[in-house]
Amino acid sequence: MDTASPMDGMFAAQHRRRLALVERMRLAGGGVAVVPTAPERTRNRDTFYPYRADSYFQYLTGFPEPDAVLVVVAEASGASRSILFCREKNLEREIWDGFRHGPEGACVTFGLDAAHPFAEFDAVLAELIADQAALWYSIGHDPGWDGRIAAALNKVRGESRSGKRAPAAIRDVRAELDAMRLIKDATEIDAMRRAAAISAAAHVRAMRFAAPGRHEYEVEAELLHEFRRGGCDYPAYPPIVAGGANACVLHYVGNDQPLHDGDLLLIDAGGELAGYASDITRTFPVNGRFSGPQADVYDLVLDAQAAAIDAVRPGATFAAPHEAALRILGQGMIDLKLLTGSLDAVLESESYKRFFMHRTSHWLGKDVHDAGEYKEGEHWAPLAAGMVLTIEPGCYVRPADDVPPAFWNIGVRIEDDALVTATGCEVITVAAPKKIADIEALMRDRPRG
Ligand code: GLY
Ligand code: MN
Ligand code: MN
Repeated sequence: MDTASPMDGMFAAQHRRRLALVERMRLAGGGVAVVPTAPERTRNRDTFYPYRADSYFQYLTGFPEPDAVLVVVAEASGASRSILFCREKNLEREIWDGFRHGPEGACVTFGLDAAHPFAEFDAVLAELIADQAALWYSIGHDPGWDGRIAAALNKVRGESRSGKRAPAAIRDVRAELDAMRLIKDATEIDAMRRAAAISAAAHVRAMRFAAPGRHEYEVEAELLHEFRRGGCDYPAYPPIVAGGANACVLHYVGNDQPLHDGDLLLIDAGGELAGYASDITRTFPVNGRFSGPQADVYDLVLDAQAAAIDAVRPGATFAAPHEAALRILGQGMIDLKLLTGSLDAVLESESYKRFFMHRTSHWLGKDVHDAGEYKEGEHWAPLAAGMVLTIEPGCYVRPADDVPPAFWNIGVRIEDDALVTATGCEVITVAAPKKIADIEALMRDRPRG
């Protein structure tokens, strides 16, 4: 693996990432990294939840099967190896469940240095970690894996009289991978652009479909249809399709109510394509026309989002978009008489949190709330080219005596995905309309019936 890359096509990106991980491990004295994939989980009896590989494992291998683990050996001398443990070929099981690569096939297809049957992992790991400086493993995510790793360590410790030494240090391999995953490579950006385009098309489809009398789940079905039709494997998270007051429930996923004339519909939905998420929210009127109060709240959130997007550039902090959105939202809430006092007082007391209680951004990538630290020490992390974050201000007004009734039960969120570029950012979800005039024009022309 430390010679010229044999990989120049499929899975070349994963190969480059393994080399980058090796370099990081080497800088810290080398050792052996263990990155398992996710387990397959029973749903009921002999039916399983749809399988999705672990994001870290997928990032480093692209290997799609369960019962697999990657071991990366980074010797202090400079030599390195990537070894996969996976299920063996099994023609009987393959008739029922489908193709398995098997160790030999996986080794070639995924460009690894070696591959072995999964059943051999425990014994081989104990050999691999003997006399290594460090074991790189992220403890605490899966008790089963924690136990296997501890058993391998104890096996080596038990052989000390024959001169074997267990690694003196255990380091968190995910911390290194988190830092790597923050900056998306070209393969990742391509997948995210495609996921964004499909998801934007799904929102357009939902706008063209929604109408009074239809149900939230019928709109959800339109979203899922468009995700799958576009090639997404699944939604990146359970879609939120929230009509009227349901929009004020931040994680509403019931999606079972009828849509009413005069209400807004908030949809937070994105597809996952090739292991990468999109995360889009649009809010629009069920009947195709914003009322005055709905438009007031909507344009306030849209203005806040524009200010937040303007604040995304290399060198700005992760918090800059949130702070920009808060200034607009805070002043707007005062102007609409949702809040009283000065803007400074609203920001200082955080009274805006009654109507905007979440943050404006999170990292986006393989996971919808993606890997990566948000702070460096005490300070918010600086943005850098290649990072992807959401920009999603909102305003959610629940009924209360001190709130103008015209705004009761209006919930608005507008969410886009921003790729930080060398000079600013590119919003990769722009194909989903969000100006009031554009939404109303699209809905005016929608088919009826
Ligand atoms: N869809 C989840 C989020 O917006 O954070
Ligand atoms: Mn989001
Ligand atoms: Mn979202």
